[in-house]
Formats: sequence, structure tokens, C-alpha cells
Amino acid sequence: MGKFYITTPIYYVNDEPHLGHAYTTVIADVLARYHRTFGDSVFFLTGTDEHGQKVEQAAKSKQMNPQEHCDEMVVRFKSLWESLNISHDDFIRTTEPRHTKIVKQILQSIYDAGEIYADDYEGWYSVHDERFWTEKDLIGGKDPVSGREVIQISERNYFFKMSQHQEWLVNHIETHPKFIQPTSRRNEILGFLKQPLGDLCISRPKSRLEWGIELPFDSDYVCYVWFDALINYITAPGYLKEGDAFTHWWPASCHLIGKDILTTHCVYWPTMLKAMGLPLPETVLGHGWWLVDEQKMSKSLGNVIRPLELAEKYGVDGFRYFLVREMVLGLDSSFGGKSFVQRYNYDLANDLGNVLNRTVVMTQRYLEGKAPAVDLSHPSLEFPRHQAEKTLAGVRKHLEELNPNGMLEAIWELVRSANKYVEIQGPWNLAKDPLRRSDLEATMYGLLETMRQLAVLVFPVMPGKAMEMWRQLGMNVELSEQKIDRLEPWGGLAAGTQVAPGDPVFPRIEMPEWVDQDAQPLPKEDPKMPNEQENLISFKEFQKLKLKVASIVQADRVEGADRLLKLKVSLGSEERQLVAGVAEHYDPDALVGRQIVVLTNLEPATIRGVESQGMLLAASSSDGLALLQPDHGLPDGSEVR
Ligand code: ME8
Ligand code: MG
Repeated sequence: MGKFYITTPIYYVNDEPHLGHAYTTVIADVLARYHRTFGDSVFFLTGTDEHGQKVEQAAKSKQMNPQEHCDEMVVRFKSLWESLNISHDDFIRTTEPRHTKIVKQILQSIYDAGEIYADDYEGWYSVHDERFWTEKDLIGGKDPVSGREVIQISERNYFFKMSQHQEWLVNHIETHPKFIQPTSRRNEILGFLKQPLGDLCISRPKSRLEWGIELPFDSDYVCYVWFDALINYITAPGYLKEGDAFTHWWPASCHLIGKDILTTHCVYWPTMLKAMGLPLPETVLGHGWWLVDEQKMSKSLGNVIRPLELAEKYGVDGFRYFLVREMVLGLDSSFGGKSFVQRYNYDLANDLGNVLNRTVVMTQRYLEGKAPAVDLSHPSLEFPRHQAEKTLAGVRKHLEELNPNGMLEAIWELVRSANKYVEIQGPWNLAKDPLRRSDLEATMYGLLETMRQLAVLVFPVMPGKAMEMWRQLGMNVELSEQKIDRLEPWGGLAAGTQVAPGDPVFPRIEMPEWVDQDAQPLPKEDPKMPNEQENLISFKEFQKLKLKVASIVQADRVEGADRLLKLKVSLGSEERQLVAGVAEHYDPDALVGRQIVVLTNLEPATIRGVESQGMLLAASSSDGLALLQPDHGLPDGSEVR
């Protein structure tokens, strides 16, 4: 058992929270929750950055006083975190007295220690970015980073002696490979530190900016917003307060940030801590950037992607899953509705939802719904046990490396192995042979135990859905109290546990209309094609056949007809019912989840009193019958041509 202290940036309250804020906070939440399920003591901090020019301007434009503006905006962040199921232990606002008091104490004590001096400053200043530049920094007379206007100013200010810590900082970064992650960001900072480091201007004259913490040693000035903001990471766990909370939590295990604020966290903050005599955080992790392709978005086309709406429409858990799974930490990712729907349908509906559903339904059908008592050394259990152990080792390793995306990859290997296990074992065949009863029981136990472990493993990412899985498995202990380390040794599921089949936990979702479906133009008919010959059909005739890829959602026997199965299939945007003469070749349970090819524009027909709205394609010979299916998964509804 260890301790894990993780922070998010404290977000500016000049604007609404958006996808980027949601991403960082969800990742931090997932890491915090995993550490809790590994039994660590966790402190997860988030909050809001409420001082400075941006906030003052935002308030002014609404004709509000800054504090009122902050009080109004902070509610939006808090309620978003609530609806995204964020489990932070503390929420800090930089206008709270517990924070302003500590900032003043720190300023005074490092001023007394000679780390701060006053000087006249003359040069260029970017109002928007609140940064000073020298003449030679400017590019084309503009801010070299943002390209925005700069103004010339001349004023007396206070400076923190950051430059004197440069050598020490470079040495720290070089000797602590985990301090800045990923490596690309570490190199970026080391590159930056090849240039001589200046001192940091930490004051703003009140004549120019009033909204800030007053300097304790000069009431004509307020503190620079970044100097104030970074300190939140130590105020919240109780710096300079009585008790031993602070020494328990500090140094932080991980400051999770976006790559936009790397310098403040990897240069300003460590030198500030050095001046205070405090140890540095273990890791500053700078994740990549979410891009939403501007070109694809247009209000007139009505296809504006509003990521948080996806969470409302398709559920918080699917949204959280997507954010964690889709971005490789450190790299940039593109946010699109299409990739969201695909991820959801492939990983959640097809892979996880399907194997859970099959496990529960077959337990009900073949074992009266009860987890059987089995000998754990049964050979059929070797495969699922081995897979689970492999996954647990992977999850541990990736958590250690602060890589939530890798954790999900490891977990989905277990999901896919369970689907494979169903196919290999074929419980529907085992159930037909009374002599193979123990194989059937072992197989079903293997699946049920795997599902139990999966519910515990996905809980930190999808707390709500994991609870539904837990209920269907009939577990009667608290899911939130399950510890991942106690999944070992394998086989903790109690015999006699009664499953409770219910609605699919991950029902498939449809592509929203605003998502560009990537329609490819059909090849033009070639006029030179020899189509007069007998037995040849024209391309036009072929085009009349609407063949599509579909997934089998449900399969049942048709009563009184030995050869027929009634199938429910999904074509992405709609569901159809088909009657197919394949019952002698396929067991219904073996078909659920498979993709097939369906002729969709066939006149409906009623067969043995059941309507069939299309026809599936199969090949047959004297050796048997085989269903046609695409050789890798495609979205349901994809056209065959
Ligand atoms: O910088 N993709 O606050 P901020 C991914 N108050 N993450 C994104 C993103 C995107 N497109 N856009 C924003 C501040 N973020 C300061 C921080 S900390 C002591 C003070 C996330 O409201 C990402 O985490 O501008 C980024 O670092 C943060 O929001 C910036 O939030
Ligand atoms: Mg920003």
C-alpha cells in the first residue's frame, strides 16, 4: 500500500469548461480510482484559477465584479465534474482565504530570504498572455508564442531570482528521468534550459491589474497569477498548517497537465519549490492535445461536434471510456463523433457487452442461472486463469507508468480472450453431452469468473456500467470495495451465485446524423463492358442488390421448425428480423455477436408465421454450410459492393 497524490491544472474561470478540461480531469480521476482499487491512500485535487487579467477582463465584459463572476463560473466546473462522475477529494479555488493566506506567507518568507528583489522593467508586454518579452524575442513585432499584439511598458516590478536555480534544475531533470514525462516533453524542457534562464516577474502594479493577491511587502502590487496558481498544489494538502497532512501527501506523485503549460510546471514551479526548501513532485505528466478539425465543423451544415453532448446522449461511461482509450498519452488525438461511435460499438457493445450477455444467458440456460462448484485445477480453467493473470500484470505495469490507455489495452485483451474462449469451448455443444457436464461447468465458471474480474477492472473507468455488470452477475458484495490485488489467486467467485440477466449493458448506438458517413461514390458504369452476352448481368442490375454488413444481436429457434432460426440483426441505423434455414449448422448461442452479410432490399416474406425482412448470405456444398462474413470487423450497415 502506498500513497498517491494527483492533481489537475486549476482551470481558468474566464470561460466555460470544454472537452480539454474534461479530458485531463477524467484521466486524473481514472488514475486516482485505479490507485484506490489497488488499496493505496489517494488524494485527488482539482480546482479553479480565479485571479489575473483574463478573469478580470471576462468579468468586466459582463459588467460583473470579478468575485461574482468567479462564483458564477465555478458552479459550471463543479457540476460538470459531478455529472462526469469525478471523484476528487478536494476542490480548491484560488480566491479562498485558505489559499490567499498561504500565498502571502510564502511571498513574505522568500522575500525575507532574499529570493525576491525590485527592479525597473522596460520592454514589451503581451496583455493577453500576461508575459514580458525583450525586443529580440518578438517576431514581426508580435508575441513570439501567440502572435498577438504586444505593448511597450516601463514600470517598477518585483522579480523572483529564478535564474540562480538553473543549473540545479537541469541537474535535477537529468538525474530524475521520471520527473518530466513523456520523454519528448523532457527533451523540450532540457532544450529550453540550454538558453540562460531569466528572473521571473512576479508582480503586477495595481494601476494595471487589481484582481490578484496583494503583495504582503508592497500594497501597490498584486501577485502574478501563475505564481499564485501553482501554489494551490501545496495549499490544498495543508502546507504551513498544523498537523501532519502535508508531510503525508507532499511531494505530489503526479501533476497531470496539458502540454501547453509545461514551462510553468517544469521551470517556474520547481525553482519556486527550491526557494521554499520543499522537495519536487515525482512526475509532471504533459498529455497531448485534442483537435477538432475546424474544416469539418460548420454551423450551416449542422455538424458542430459538441463532445459533452455525447456524454449526455450516450452516457457518461461510454464518454469516459472513449477519452481514456482513444488518446495515447503524450500524442495528439482528433475528436470525432464517428470514432466515438465506432469505439463504443466495437469495444463496448460487440466485445465486452456481448461476452457478458452470452455468459449470463448461457448460465441461465444450461446451469439454471447458478455459478457451478468446480475443481479449480480443471484443465478447461487454465486458459482463462492464465489470461487474467497476464492482464493483471499488464494493468499493474501500465498504472506504474501512468498509462491509462495501456491499461485499457491490457484489459481488452482479456475481453477478447473471453470471446475466443466461448468459441473454442462451444458451451452449446458441451451442454448436449451429459458426459461432458464437468467441462460445461468448468467453462461457464471460467467465463463467470472472468466477467467478475472484468467488472472490477473496468470500474475505475466506467463506474456506472461496471455496477450494471455486477448486478447481472448476481454479485451481492459491494463492487466499490473490491480490490484489484485480491483478484489473485484466481477463482474468487462463489459457487451458487445466481445470475440476473437483464437488458444489454452496452446497447449499440447509432451514428448521429451530423457525422460524415464517409460516403464513397460508387464506381461509374463502364460503357464498354460486354453485357449483351447471355448469363451476364449488367452492373446496373448488380447495383440493385443492396447487400450490407450486419451483426447478429439475438438468435432463437423457431418453434416447430427444426431448420429455422429467427435472427435479430443490426444494420447500424436499424434492426431487422430474419428467418434463416441454418439451425442444423449453427447453434443460436454461437451466432450472437457475429457479423454476416445480408441482402436488405428483398421483399419481406412470412415463413412459418414469422416475418423475414431480408436474407443472409451463406455458401453451401455437400460438406456443409458456411455463413459469409467480412474478414475483419466493419461498422454495421457497411455496403457490400
Ligand atoms: O492553463 N486538449 O488553465 P486553462 C487537451 N489556469 N487538453 C486541453 C485542451 C485540449 N485541446 N485544452 C485545454 C490554465 N486542455 C491555468 C492552469 S495550473 C496551476 C494553472 C486542458 O483553463 C489541459 O490540461 O487554460 C491544459 O493544460 C488545461 O486544460 C489548461 O486549462
Ligand atoms: Mg489555456
